[in-house]
Amino acid sequence: MNPALTQFGAHMSKLTGVRAIMKDIIETLRAGAGQQFINLSAGNPLILPEVEQLWRDCTAQLLASPDYGEVVCRYGSSQGYAPLVEAVVEDFNRRFGLSLSERNILVTPGSQSLYFYAANAFGGYTTSGELKQIVLPLSPDYTGYGGVTLVPEALIAYKPTLDIDAAAHKFKYRPDFSKLSITEKTGCVIFSRPCNPTGNVLTDDEVKKIAALAAPYDVPVFIDSAYGPPFPALNFTQMTPIFGNNIMHCMSLSKAGLPGERIGIAIGDEQVIEVLESFQTNACLHASRYGQAIAARAITSGGLADISTSVIRPFYQNKFTVLESTLNEAMPKDLPWFLHRGEGAIFAWLWLPDLPITDWEFYQELKRVGVIVVPGSTFFPGLEEEWKHKQECVRISLTGSDEEIATGMQRLAKVVQQLYQVSAVSA
Ligand SMILES: Cc1ncc(COP(=O)(O)O)c(C=O)c1O
Repeated sequence: MNPALTQFGAHMSKLTGVRAIMKDIIETLRAGAGQQFINLSAGNPLILPEVEQLWRDCTAQLLASPDYGEVVCRYGSSQGYAPLVEAVVEDFNRRFGLSLSERNILVTPGSQSLYFYAANAFGGYTTSGELKQIVLPLSPDYTGYGGVTLVPEALIAYKPTLDIDAAAHKFKYRPDFSKLSITEKTGCVIFSRPCNPTGNVLTDDEVKKIAALAAPYDVPVFIDSAYGPPFPALNFTQMTPIFGNNIMHCMSLSKAGLPGERIGIAIGDEQVIEVLESFQTNACLHASRYGQAIAARAITSGGLADISTSVIRPFYQNKFTVLESTLNEAMPKDLPWFLHRGEGAIFAWLWLPDLPITDWEFYQELKRVGVIVVPGSTFFPGLEEEWKHKQECVRISLTGSDEEIATGMQRLAKVVQQLYQVSAVSA
């Protein structure tokens, strides 16, 4: 069958960003039977035994409790399973001195769906035909934002400024406040903190400044804290979650070991929560109650926050150190290469200025030496303007073993050296 597609159908039936590249990666892995690839492309967290045990224990408690039937054999409220909503309210009020009530919380089936609701409830055409923009204040950012809007022209990303430490081969993106425009045309603002793909953590001041720019226009700012504290606490630099009237603090339990259960949590203004909740009722009723019930236990006991700082964070922070020190040793000192400061998340981001080939070709070259990374140009959703930098970066996942990361980076360094040598000779 080849039924006619609507505009939305045509748009939503295409994969964007990394999801499109994943197809090539899966085919490469399949076709390369016999060839051992070091796959540093994955966004899927590793199964850490202590974390798996926590979820196993919570499941055992649920199975043994009289709540089991009520949890899995019945529909529930769209807002979320009441014990999870209460657990989040209590945890956040105590931890951050807030005065949240259960009306400030919405549980969604993964946080991706939350950005889908937000992007389409606040971005796109208003009833009077005016286009409201979805602003991504600092590009590159999460590739998934490219797929969440039904109205692609609504997505607008801003080029950052680059804070470069040439001697250390390090750099960091910063929002360019001289360009960032949040006005009556803005529907909502979204950014990840810590950021996938770069590991950047916007400073508290930068976040407050963005929220203050949005406040006069009643624009909600969705802070995607999929890697933030208190869980999974994948920040390697000090950071404080920022709350405020127009700030929606959005979490995910995926990187805290529960990606299969699809749990996202939004915390913020009651009226915004109500809009998102209705969107959710229309789209899918509610998130899995089994996932919510075990999450409620892990949050109430404090186990999830503890394991985040004692196991999850040090595990990935150590991977970043392995990657960074290998690159420091193996990369040619005289070449301009810059690793983004590793402030959090589960990725490293490498920028190779004046790379003689595109990021896509570089990805192919790395495949030839058995290393798979993700070409960086897939992480600039909403940034239409030409910018050479978009073709000069790669994302390297920290989900390999220490040995794979070290070997992968040594091979990458050799490829880089050869590429720049060839280009110097031919110039
Ligand atoms: C920054 C960021 N936001 C959101 C998501 C979506 O996660 P989930 O839908 O599993 O909560 C991801 C997934 O990798 C992510 O990296």
